[in-house]
Amino acid sequence: MSENHTVTVTHQDDVAWVEINNPPVNATSTAVRQGLADAVAAVQGARVAVLTCAGRTFVAGGDMSEFDAAPVEPHLPDVVQMIEDSPVPFIAALHGNVLGGGFEIAMGCAWRIARTGTGFGLPEVNVGLIPGAAGTQRLPRLVGMVAAIDIACAGKIVKADEMLALGGIDVVAEDLNAAVAAFVADLPERPAAVRLREVPPFAADLIDTKRAELTKRAKGQQSPLENLTALQWALTPFAEGQPKERARHLELRQSAESRALRHAFFAERQVSKPSAIKDAMPREITSLVVVGGGLMGAGIATAVLNAGLSVTLIERDEQAAETAVQRVHGLLDGAHKRRKMSASALEARKDAFRAVTNYAEAAQAPLAIEAVFEDVDVKRDVFQKLSAVMSPDAILATNTSYLDPTLIFDGIENPSRCVGLHFFSPAHIMKLLEIVKTPDTSAEVLATGFALGKKLRKVSVLSGICDGFIGNRMLAAYRRAADYLLADGAFPYQIDAAMRNMGLPMGPYEMQDLTGLQIAWANRKRQAATRHPDERYVTIADQLCEMDRLGQRSGKGWYRYEDGNRAPLRDPEVEALVVAYSEEHGIDRRSFSDDEISSRLLAVLANEGAMIVAEGIAERPADVDMVKIFGYGFPRWRGGPMKYATEIGWEKSQKFMQLVADESPNSWSIAPHSGRFEK
Ligand code: NAI
Repeated sequence: MSENHTVTVTHQDDVAWVEINNPPVNATSTAVRQGLADAVAAVQGARVAVLTCAGRTFVAGGDMSEFDAAPVEPHLPDVVQMIEDSPVPFIAALHGNVLGGGFEIAMGCAWRIARTGTGFGLPEVNVGLIPGAAGTQRLPRLVGMVAAIDIACAGKIVKADEMLALGGIDVVAEDLNAAVAAFVADLPERPAAVRLREVPPFAADLIDTKRAELTKRAKGQQSPLENLTALQWALTPFAEGQPKERARHLELRQSAESRALRHAFFAERQVSKPSAIKDAMPREITSLVVVGGGLMGAGIATAVLNAGLSVTLIERDEQAAETAVQRVHGLLDGAHKRRKMSASALEARKDAFRAVTNYAEAAQAPLAIEAVFEDVDVKRDVFQKLSAVMSPDAILATNTSYLDPTLIFDGIENPSRCVGLHFFSPAHIMKLLEIVKTPDTSAEVLATGFALGKKLRKVSVLSGICDGFIGNRMLAAYRRAADYLLADGAFPYQIDAAMRNMGLPMGPYEMQDLTGLQIAWANRKRQAATRHPDERYVTIADQLCEMDRLGQRSGKGWYRYEDGNRAPLRDPEVEALVVAYSEEHGIDRRSFSDDEISSRLLAVLANEGAMIVAEGIAERPADVDMVKIFGYGFPRWRGGPMKYATEIGWEKSQKFMQLVADESPNSWSIAPHSGRFEK
């Protein structure tokens, strides 16, 4: 009989029960690995051993906090090998999530029995790794190469029913204990161990086809391809492939990509707990009001309905209300058609929604989110009307992109209930929610915003007030720097290609064409009065707007588009305009390499982010990273602009920034150097 705190072994008749108890998710920490190694010795003498986990899940992965340090014995691959080699064969009794090291342990067992609904996966790819305990070697032998590629390279989670069909488990049952007991009873006196050593046949060109597919999809990320290579090692004898996988796993732990993805993993959890809401209790919100049912209002209402809350939408007049209903129903119907929602859920969500024109309908609501035109006076008027009918402590939220919330809420009774809830378009899809704190907003109101964000499955980030808050302020700096490059010698297609090569889904000009040039144009006009007269201001974008080249929706913008096709095509007219601009301003155009372009633009992002942190607009560099990843498509595998600057070296990033500042004097502030960015 062996016992440590995390793994216990109990003998009952001729069955040994091994239980892992390492809350919250039974991660394969050193104590668990040691406990399992001891357990293999302790089960000897029994007919069969059953491996189970206490709590809500089977082992759901490794302990990532151990990944930065040198691995400590016993190593997981050795422990799994001991389980597989044990003369007393193991049955894995599985529930919850069987992920990463958990799945590797389960594959070392002779048989696997799962509760209905259990999820299986090798999500190492999501943190820039390959499995390290023979996951890529046993999985193709267990379920075939095609399914193994989906699981290891794409991080697919497979549910128990599908896993049973793939042959990866032996039994699925609602009642796990009963299923295990029946299975044990059916085993012969001396059950023979089952080992995974053969690789089933698969189409010869499968790996090549998948490699081409993954290369295209990964946009520079290496871990999907690393996993494919490791799966290929399963075509060699196990004793050759397994050590190769282990060695590569350990190397990848040190890679910039894995560090970046692990940073993103932890940061995503950290941002939802800003110190400003420490100890504050959120209010429970089950219904709310949205004012304005345009692009954003309809998207916000849909996101809220999808989270199971009910929504009353207020519009200006009957016709606008009817249009809003059509928009929201259209978004819900679309999700139903794409099989994201059942017919009954669709009906329930439509029932939970109504559009009205009378503010009195807001009287009972605990929270209202305003998404009307971007105009201070219109917004102020909306909040006056809301505050006249709602309870004096009902929460008032604005979705403004750029306007100062303190102006919008000026004169509102009890301003501690006022807050910014800045969604991103399309609001029912984009994961980011900026929660904007005014000097008056109470911790309870902020906490309620974060709780709502969580219900809506958003990643919420706290922002202070500045022009554009965190995300749009960084976007403005990035675009300004790109425009300087244009004026000095680059073309839109070059800048876009350079940024795509860094892993961004789009460059700055393709993105403007997609979202439309007019919002940024309106902003630049608004900012003209406060812009420093010496700041360099490139007018090419304004010229395009004046020419009605407003992006894809007007058929042309920075690029031209052929009918019905969204692919941007280089436009000689725009390039001539760019060259003419440089000539008019006496600029000797020079060429920029892709590297020069991307290092400048990334340095500008990091610098702006550092300013935002230094000013206290964002609490931590990681908050800035999350905004860029979840709101602007910054590649997660680069960890965000702040993490990227840390990886290449903050000093180096600031050297590029200095170059940018020297090229366009009087136009940039350089963030104060701070040790906190080096982490
Ligand atoms: P939109 O023009 O599509 O919709 C505005 C809606 O508000 C219209 O349906 C209009 O009828 C309604 N409205 C105007 N005055 C009203 C009033 N007094 N009472 C009730 N309804 C009224 O505008 P969009 O794009 O939805 O933007 C709304 C807000 O969201 C703006 O503050 C904008 O800056 C912000 N925002 C916009 C984003 C975008 O990508 N478009 C992204 C994030 C925020």
